[in-house]
Amino acid sequence: MICPNRIKHCFSQATRSYNEVALLQQRSAEILVDLLFRTLPAFYPQTILDLGTGTGYIPELLWPYFPKSHYTLNDISETMITNVKKQYKHQLQFNFSCEDMVTANFNRHDLIISNLAFQWLDPLHPFIQKQFLNSQCLAFSGLLSGTFSEWGTVFKEQGLKSPLRSYPRETDLKAKLRRLNPKKFHFETRKFQLEFQSILSFMQYLKQLGAQSSPEIFTLAQLRTLIELPQKPLSISYHIFYAILERA
Ligand SMILES: C[S@@+](CC[C@H](N)C(=O)[O-])C[C@H]1O[C@@H](n2cnc3c(N)ncnc32)[C@H](O)[C@@H]1O
Repeated sequence: MICPNRIKHCFSQATRSYNEVALLQQRSAEILVDLLFRTLPAFYPQTILDLGTGTGYIPELLWPYFPKSHYTLNDISETMITNVKKQYKHQLQFNFSCEDMVTANFNRHDLIISNLAFQWLDPLHPFIQKQFLNSQCLAFSGLLSGTFSEWGTVFKEQGLKSPLRSYPRETDLKAKLRRLNPKKFHFETRKFQLEFQSILSFMQYLKQLGAQSSPEIFTLAQLRTLIELPQKPLSISYHIFYAILERA
């Protein structure tokens, strides 16, 4: 279980640097929104809830298509919400919720959407089920097992305990989502490879992203071992799962 306060702290610290490094996250938001449009082309949600909105990639993409909708942008990090509030301060139909999405009690929304935020939740499935039942359409992306596997290998090679947390397996996640009996659905997995000059530059990337709040972090002793390693290029895998689920 990842401590919500730690997540809040790390993402708050990363608010300024996030957009500089979050190119994959931005691309992932585009893919998610594109899959939503392709799966449900006639769907015009009156109300939209973006869970873990971060710097607001999702509302930025949806707004031109759904200018009349009412938006609620949620994030556990106060600085992320303060930042995104500035962008939409002139839009009356925007609300902001600075809450832990797990404990927050949201009203029903036509569309509940979330890009790359669900990997912080444990257990994941009851949360997904709740959001599905609280919407007409649930659209989300999240990390699958295999993500960061090379990072685990670096630790293994040094005889260190792997810091990786377990992400869901694609087949298990799909099976659970099918059991929700959606009227219409689309599932897709995309694999990406990010190249880093060194272990240190990957660690820096995690920090700028705010993602070092995950158990991918290390103890001081591990950190020393990693820093002292000969620095060589590191290729990191991301396996991202996309789900669009329409309720009957
Ligand atoms: C990797 S960022 C993704 C941000 C954004 N959706 C995007 O597309 O760039 C994950 C975001 O989820 C937020 N988050 C993580 N756990 C959360 C929780 N339990 N409740 C609300 N927000 C959370 C973090 O603060 C962070 O802004």
